[in-house]
Amino acid sequence: MRTFFFFVWPWLKNLLCIDTSTGTTSRFEEVVSMRTFFFYLGVIFFLLLLVVGGWGLWKFGPLFLGRKPASLEFSASPSAMVLPAPDRQGSVPLERTLQARRSVRAFEDVPLPLGQIGQILWAAQGITLPEKGFRTAPSAFSLYPLKVYLAAERVEGLAPGFYGYDPEKHALIALAEGDVRAILIRAVRQPAVSTAPAALLLTADEDAARKRLGDAATFCVAAEAGHAAQNVYLQATALGLGTVSMGGIDGGALREVFALPEKESPLYVMPLGVPKEH
Ligand SMILES: Cc1cc2nc3c(=O)[nH]c(=O)nc-3n(C[C@H](O)[C@H](O)[C@H](O)COP(=O)(O)O)c2cc1C
Repeated sequence: MRTFFFFVWPWLKNLLCIDTSTGTTSRFEEVVSMRTFFFYLGVIFFLLLLVVGGWGLWKFGPLFLGRKPASLEFSASPSAMVLPAPDRQGSVPLERTLQARRSVRAFEDVPLPLGQIGQILWAAQGITLPEKGFRTAPSAFSLYPLKVYLAAERVEGLAPGFYGYDPEKHALIALAEGDVRAILIRAVRQPAVSTAPAALLLTADEDAARKRLGDAATFCVAAEAGHAAQNVYLQATALGLGTVSMGGIDGGALREVFALPEKESPLYVMPLGVPKEH
């Protein structure tokens, strides 16, 4: 308001030749031609467009422009890397974690420790009862149709690339090396993936579940992704990290860029990182 009265109003008054004592614009026609008026209107509109356009380019530009063509180099013989043992005790109360959980879509572009990544992967699908193969998240008939992948851009001790999570060995299988962030940006097209140092991809083999569950397979697979994703949310929150479960993704594009098996359907992408302070 102050800006308006100090700067805009005197300028507008002068432009329109408004006589403040009477409030009239009697000399308007004589002094300011319609051409001048529309010229200034055009300038204002242009400046507005520049500001809005600039902001849009800054915010969403990286999703469409200026990225080198993304490509991954897939390993001929994938190697396994055992992750640090997960913390099964923890020290952050569940209630505090539930209270603090929020979807986070902007991240500091800082590397994540491998231990934190391992902890989150364990929370998603880690084994908690080895003799039965039961995991951190429930599964209808213990079928476990979910698979968890890691797209690592900046994870300490990991080359940028795409990895599969092996719950039995609590290990990462190196599938491909390369600029996964650019690949994710291309396939997901949501700003949340543009600064995250890592992201999880949850997929499911629905056809395998269908053999046992019939038509209920679609529901069960989606529900199980929800269980696993909530575990990821809570574990990330307890570690001081942020994530968001993104279902608005192009499954076909993700399957193609990450060379996923035909039977696997991408369900969620979950970027991970230190939440950006606003
Ligand atoms: C099935 C499902 C799909 C979602 N898809 C997206 C998505 O594509 N992009 C996104 O930014 N958030 C997505 N979200 C997150 C919701 O927008 C978020 O949970 C909601 O705004 C509530 O905020 P909160 O999680 O912080 O409580 C999705 C959530 C669910 C449950």
